[in-house]
Amino acid sequence: MPPNNPYIEKVRLDPDILTDTKEIYSHRWKWSEYFWNNSPLVLEIGTWMGNFFGKQVTENPDKNFLGIEIRYKRLFQTAQKSRKTNKKPSFVILKDFGQNISRMFETGEISETYIFFPDPRANKDRQRKHRLLQEKFLSDLHDITSPGGKVYFKTDHKEYFDSTKEIIESQWLWKISRWTHNYEASEFFDMKNITEFEGFYRGENTDICYLELEK
Ligand SMILES: C[S@@+](CC[C@H](N)C(=O)[O-])C[C@H]1O[C@@H](n2cnc3c(N)ncnc32)[C@H](O)[C@@H]1O
Repeated sequence: MPPNNPYIEKVRLDPDILTDTKEIYSHRWKWSEYFWNNSPLVLEIGTWMGNFFGKQVTENPDKNFLGIEIRYKRLFQTAQKSRKTNKKPSFVILKDFGQNISRMFETGEISETYIFFPDPRANKDRQRKHRLLQEKFLSDLHDITSPGGKVYFKTDHKEYFDSTKEIIESQWLWKISRWTHNYEASEFFDMKNITEFEGFYRGENTDICYLELEK
C-alpha cells in the first residue's frame, strides 16, 4: 500500500475500528463489557469490503459482531456498510491478523465464526505456510468457541478445503455438522447470504466447498 493511502487516516479516525493491538488484546474476555450487553459474539475473519458482515450486523441487532481484516480500505468500507441501519448497530472492526485470535478472545467467548475464501489460496509450499487454517489456528478457534458454538467455512480451493478438513478430523475436537464440495447444489445453499468473493465465482463453473463445524 503506498504511504499516502487516504484510508489510513480515515481508519484512524473511525470510532468503530480498533487498530492498536495492545488495546484489542485488552478487551479479551471483556468484549461483552465493550458492547455493554451480553448478546452472543459473532466473528468474521477477512471481511473484504464488508457486504456479508454489514448485512449480518444490520439484520441481527440481537448479536454483537466483530470483524477482523488487515487492509485499510477494507476495514473502512466494512465499518461504513455496518452503519447502514436505522437501529444502533452493534459491531467493531479489528485491524489484526486472524492468526492472533487467542490473544483477542478468551476460552468460549465466541458463539459463531465465519471464514469465507481465506488467502492465500495458491498451492506453492511457500504460500501454504501462510494459510490461516492450520493446526494451531484450528485448535485456538475451538478454544475460543462457546459450547454448541459454530464455525462456517467456504472456499473455492478444493485442496485447501480437503487439507483443512483432514486436520479437523485428526484433531477430534469438532463435530462436522455439514460439508460439501458443491455448496451451490446442496440443500443448505443460502443465496441471500453469498459473499463478494462467492459472487465473483457464480456462473464461472467453479464449485464452492462448504464446511460447518459445531463445538
Ligand atoms: C479472498 S478475500 C475474501 C473476502 C470475503 N471473506 C469474501 O468471501 O468475499 C480474503 C480477505 O481476507 C483478508 N485477509 C488476508 N489475510 C488475513 C489474515 N491473516 N487475517 C485477517 N484477514 C486476512 C484480505 O485482506 C481479504 O479481505
